[in-house]
Amino acid sequence: MTKTIAIIGLGYVGLPLAIEFGKKYPTLGFDINPTRIEELRNRFDRTHQINSHDFQEAKFLSFHTDIQELKNAQIYIITVPTPLDEYKNPDISYLLNASKMIAPLLSSKDIIIYESTTYPTCTLKDCVPILEQYSSLKYNIDFFVGYSPERINPGDREHKLPDIKKITSGSTPEVAKEIDELYASIITAGTYLAPSIEVAEMAKVIENAQRDLNIAFVNEIALICDKLGIETQEVLKASSTKWNFLPFKPGLVGGHCISIDPYYLTHKAHELGYHPRVISAGRLVNDAMPSFVAQKLIKLMIAKDIKILRAKILILGVTFKENCNDIRNSKVFEVIDELIEYGCEITLLDPLAIPEEVSKLTSAPLYSNLSEINKRFDGVLLAVAHKEFEEIDLASHTHNQSVIYDLKDVLKSSHARL
Ligand SMILES: NC(=O)c1ccc[n+]([C@@H]2O[C@H](COP(=O)([O-])OP(=O)(O)OC[C@H]3O[C@@H](n4cnc5c(N)ncnc54)[C@H](O)[C@@H]3O)[C@@H](O)[C@H]2O)c1
Repeated sequence: MTKTIAIIGLGYVGLPLAIEFGKKYPTLGFDINPTRIEELRNRFDRTHQINSHDFQEAKFLSFHTDIQELKNAQIYIITVPTPLDEYKNPDISYLLNASKMIAPLLSSKDIIIYESTTYPTCTLKDCVPILEQYSSLKYNIDFFVGYSPERINPGDREHKLPDIKKITSGSTPEVAKEIDELYASIITAGTYLAPSIEVAEMAKVIENAQRDLNIAFVNEIALICDKLGIETQEVLKASSTKWNFLPFKPGLVGGHCISIDPYYLTHKAHELGYHPRVISAGRLVNDAMPSFVAQKLIKLMIAKDIKILRAKILILGVTFKENCNDIRNSKVFEVIDELIEYGCEITLLDPLAIPEEVSKLTSAPLYSNLSEINKRFDGVLLAVAHKEFEEIDLASHTHNQSVIYDLKDVLKSSHARL
């Protein structure tokens, strides 16, 4: 019998997954945001991950706002957010709520697969008790669970969901095999069946913690180079000529993966009485970068005798990474806030960021095209390497004294790089 799959949470992770499953299996996509469902029914994806051709190909996919419509599914996949609270502790409330919502719908032999990034043990110790409590069913007797972390990289056209090897796991060997075969049927790059759910959870969270640390290392090198008056980019270029030097670049580390997941891991470690030093050090370095960048731009402007109060600054890029419209947890906004504290007047240019979302975070005006801006700036900060900036000509928007600070080494002419 072909099983029906329900995907709970249709964001950056859930929608591409629903599309891939919807090409082959009866698939029900569900989200608590009715606007999102309305847009998806009209084949519009505001995250720009999915185009109209993809929607067309997903012939067996339907979108739902009523949770009751998922009750005939046999496989439930949960792809809801796992952010941090204001104290940088894991906020697993979305995972728990989604579990609570689907629990009453479960029937015998159903499988619930969690895809959201979380700390090891969360699936079995935090989510399963909720499923049991709200379904009156017994774990591993009446229902089964799995964990299969998502590894997509929004904005990356080369590594799409089917091209990225997927880790799978399940609560019994038979269920693990079934889950693995299910994913193997849509992931052309293949799957890796982990020996346990905890291994799969830990594997995901350390992938991002490792990346965070590698970037923290080059960020620290950039801070030291700045004190030495040496160009970091030139140092990295020289070091990269050794075969085993890792090609990481310094920069702002934002978004909802690399800058968040390490806190999930450190939280769990603290709970167990171990206080991670290396992982926490990386976080400290990366979290301090926005302030360093703002202060560096101010110093560069002072060195050129530019008056800081009411200085006009253009920021190129506000999203958390290049070629992607996602601004969640973008560290560019911390740079903006600090420059505003110095009394500077900020203008933003980003061809991808969604204006209504940006206006919730800052009062600085946002433009999508340089030609719409009729101003000359005292300072320009390239913060995000969108491909549209590669050929940008700033001549008519700057003056002789203007400072151009390029964090991403994209611009042909700049006065300073990170
Ligand atoms: N975005 C990425 O690049 C990426 C990559 C790998 C892993 N992840 C992880 O995947 C998970 C989801 O991330 P995302 O970026 O897709 O988040 P997102 O915010 O883009 O999407 C989550 C969706 O879930 C919906 N939602 C919240 N609670 C719900 C509920 N109870 N029932 C139904 N829908 C609900 C929201 O309305 C939203 O549309 C997170 O754990 C994240 O860390 C994200």
